[in-house]
Amino acid sequence: MKLNKVYYAFISFIIITLGFFIYLHNNNISTSPNIKPTNTDISRYDGIDINFTSLDSETYKISRHYPYFNNKTLDGLITNYIDRIEKEFLNEIDSLDQDFLKEYPAHLYITFEIHKLNNNIYSFVFTQEHHYSKANPYQKNDVFIVDISSNKQLTTKSSPFWKDDTLDTLYSLIKKKFEASALYSDYFFSDMFETWFYNPLNDFSNVYFDKDRVVFKFDKYEVTAGVAGAPEIFINVSELNNILSDYWINLISENQNFEQETTAVIIEFDTEATTEATSDLPVETNPEQTTDKNSAITKKKIAITFDDGPHKDFTIQILDLFDKYNGKATFYMLGSRVDFYPHIAKNVIERGHEIGNHTWNHKDLTKLDTSSLLDEINRTNSAIKKSTGILPKTLRPPFGEINEQTKKIIDEKVVLWDVDTLDWSSHDPDEILSIIKRDVRENSIILLHDIHKSTLDALPAILEYLYNNNYEFVTISNLLGY
Ligand code: NI
Repeated sequence: MKLNKVYYAFISFIIITLGFFIYLHNNNISTSPNIKPTNTDISRYDGIDINFTSLDSETYKISRHYPYFNNKTLDGLITNYIDRIEKEFLNEIDSLDQDFLKEYPAHLYITFEIHKLNNNIYSFVFTQEHHYSKANPYQKNDVFIVDISSNKQLTTKSSPFWKDDTLDTLYSLIKKKFEASALYSDYFFSDMFETWFYNPLNDFSNVYFDKDRVVFKFDKYEVTAGVAGAPEIFINVSELNNILSDYWINLISENQNFEQETTAVIIEFDTEATTEATSDLPVETNPEQTTDKNSAITKKKIAITFDDGPHKDFTIQILDLFDKYNGKATFYMLGSRVDFYPHIAKNVIERGHEIGNHTWNHKDLTKLDTSSLLDEINRTNSAIKKSTGILPKTLRPPFGEINEQTKKIIDEKVVLWDVDTLDWSSHDPDEILSIIKRDVRENSIILLHDIHKSTLDALPAILEYLYNNNYEFVTISNLLGY
């Protein structure tokens, strides 16, 4: 009896242990497709991601791009700044004639450029643009220099930019640069510059550091006539030896060595991400097996499109879902985001999907002059070509805003949509699905956004519904024969 008890206890122990391992194993299999490379591997700028939100109301449109650090202090600093701008814009909206705004919606764009000094120190140059109907747009730039190792903002107060008693030399140097500039000399107001420079409140918050240069970024109208735009004066560090403080000179000279090291790290990552994402797909729900009996039925083609990405996690997860149906999608990417996540764009192409141009900063193209419009498009094309080797054939204008005049300037084929899921507004998987059920037909182009979790959550049911109703998921170029 005693032996029996020990025997049963032993057997139970084995069964429980085995069961536990089987559970662990299964659990691992079912969740493995979601295991993704960590955040820091994903962004080209270590430890920094890019956030984008777009709002489209009856009277105004807002596009906001801003960096995300996953740090309370720095994210607080940036969101306070962004919220302040948005509040000012919305106050202005309230004071304007609403009927007029319904006809000519106002726009707010918040965008930023990123300049990397070394692994820790980045300059973020924000631009806010307010467009109120037909008035001249209001534009302002703000610089944040940030040390992400200590989560601090660096200003000339915290880490002085200049050596003592060098202001007069600096003044002459910048003035000379303006007067020698082919772009700005004709529009330069030296008296305005003098007032700006010697203003006791001048804290040089327009200064940023770009590799081996110090850059002074001025607002439109600040020291030049409006036609000069927002001037940038670049001064090489070698010209600033007697002016720039030792602190910054040291950081910049360290940066010279660092530049060569970074490229190798980025290239290494790509292949790994591709194999991991494709090898772990669950097979149990693969509808492949059913295709044989359905193959006699002609499939109805549709193009499912995703705007405003790539997203650091969701885009790849969407590709995994499409793999289950041998389906292909089209991604209308923002150049500013491709710049952050180049290897995600590369992965999209490698897995047979299509990338289209959705401009650099999500601006309403019908409100831009020709050169800014081409800049938005060409910068995005270069970023996509650089990361994927392929130039986009089609373009989707932000907010779907396009007119005959704009079309003439654009070389790419312009693609809109016929099924508007409003996913960015409802964030409701059920509602997204019911709009698709109501509006989809053969040759439909469905508009979704791969930057929202709710859209990703809605997708399994959407794909299953469409698949069961005999739809085939193809790229835009396939659907439209480009
Ligand atoms: Ni968009």
